[in-house]
Amino acid sequence: MRRKSKISVPNGFLAAIVMLIFVLGIATMLVSGHKLSEITQNKNVAEPLNTSSGNTLEGINSRAISPNAFEEESNLPNGYRFVSVLNEEIYKGSLVLVNYQHESRIDGENLVNIYENISSSVGVKEDNMMINSVVLDNMNVFFDAFKEAKGKTSILISSSYRSKNDQQKIYDDSVKETGKKSTAYYVAVPGFSEHQTGYCFDTAAINKDNEMVELDGEGDFSWLSENCNDYGFILRYPNDKTNITGIGYESWHFRYVGKAHSLFMTKHNLCLEEYITGIQKYTFDNGGLLIDEGSKGKWFVYYVPKLVAFNNTEIPVPADSEKFPYNVSGDNIGGFIVTVDVSKDSSAIPNNATSEWSFDNSDLIIKDFVDYDPYNDTERDSDRSGKKSNNDDWENDSFWNDEDDGESSDKDRNGSELEYVDYYDDYDENYKTDDGNDYSDNGDDGEYYEE
Ligand code: DAL
Ligand code: ZN
Repeated sequence: MRRKSKISVPNGFLAAIVMLIFVLGIATMLVSGHKLSEITQNKNVAEPLNTSSGNTLEGINSRAISPNAFEEESNLPNGYRFVSVLNEEIYKGSLVLVNYQHESRIDGENLVNIYENISSSVGVKEDNMMINSVVLDNMNVFFDAFKEAKGKTSILISSSYRSKNDQQKIYDDSVKETGKKSTAYYVAVPGFSEHQTGYCFDTAAINKDNEMVELDGEGDFSWLSENCNDYGFILRYPNDKTNITGIGYESWHFRYVGKAHSLFMTKHNLCLEEYITGIQKYTFDNGGLLIDEGSKGKWFVYYVPKLVAFNNTEIPVPADSEKFPYNVSGDNIGGFIVTVDVSKDSSAIPNNATSEWSFDNSDLIIKDFVDYDPYNDTERDSDRSGKKSNNDDWENDSFWNDEDDGESSDKDRNGSELEYVDYYDDYDENYKTDDGNDYSDNGDDGEYYEE
């Protein structure tokens, strides 16, 4: 009888167990959904990891729980929890490294129209140009500060987000106009340009005839490269890193990485290749990297390699995102970089976090790299049929000869007066000014003297 009664129980009992498993399953999904949605909904996160539009990675916004979710949460330090992120997200975010080795896997992210949203402190070359929305917010602060510091508005955004097709056109035109060597030095192969991410922009100067001329980064414009790190930007292709970036010095190209990283990279003289490669050893498990910039801010940064065996990676983040605003970015290589703002409260910094940066960049140096010299490129000279760079007909250009006559061409699109700009002519190797005189670097000391 006992045996029989035992057998008679399971019908109801089994049903109850099935129900329990079902309910637990639903609850688990709900909990995970809640956790994941916070990464996109947290208003304090400077750059949401997710995008609602503008990405080409289908399904990147969908989430699923990888087999190891929750398994190790109990091992996390106090105040941390996991968020589960699809591995494809490594291709997105403000710290992606796109260069000759790492193709851009996104086609813009959270793009907004620049012309409609930009401050009047800076002009825009075309009214359909797009850029990442976080970058735009920071550009506005950056160019307002430039105007405040130097009183200049004779500057414009000449390029920003570019599709692969846009890049192809620029690349092809450049080969035709300047030859292959020069193109290889200054123009990324289509697909491998960080312009495709929407996280960077080019600047140009405007002369008094409202013509666009190269922004040489000299004179008042040196403020931009000297101060951009306070606004989350880096000069992406510096003169002393060409054999790592594989791109010649570009005094006009700025990349947004976020303030913690721009400050740190500048302090340690790191280009993006060095920083993103070097940060990989600062994992959460190893204690991460502490960036303490005093009154400018304090951040705890750590790397989380993607879990290669799964579709998702469990990323430790502060449980209290109000107290510790954080941002997660992919690196476009193999993992995620988490940046936690600990300016107001240091309790999220583990004891073993370090402020010491050590990195051997020798593996990054392009062994057969030769700095391109435009003055000795016969291909370029013949291709250009003797034309001068940037400003092909400068001798007949009224810019060098005219007085400031206050005509409408001396105003920018907002009606503000434009100033004369200094201009360096690559081919003449002369520094020119609005008074029409040439200035030569006779002593080769970077100082220009009137001829
Ligand atoms: N001029 C930069 C390297 C680009 O083409 O993306
Ligand atoms: Zn550029």
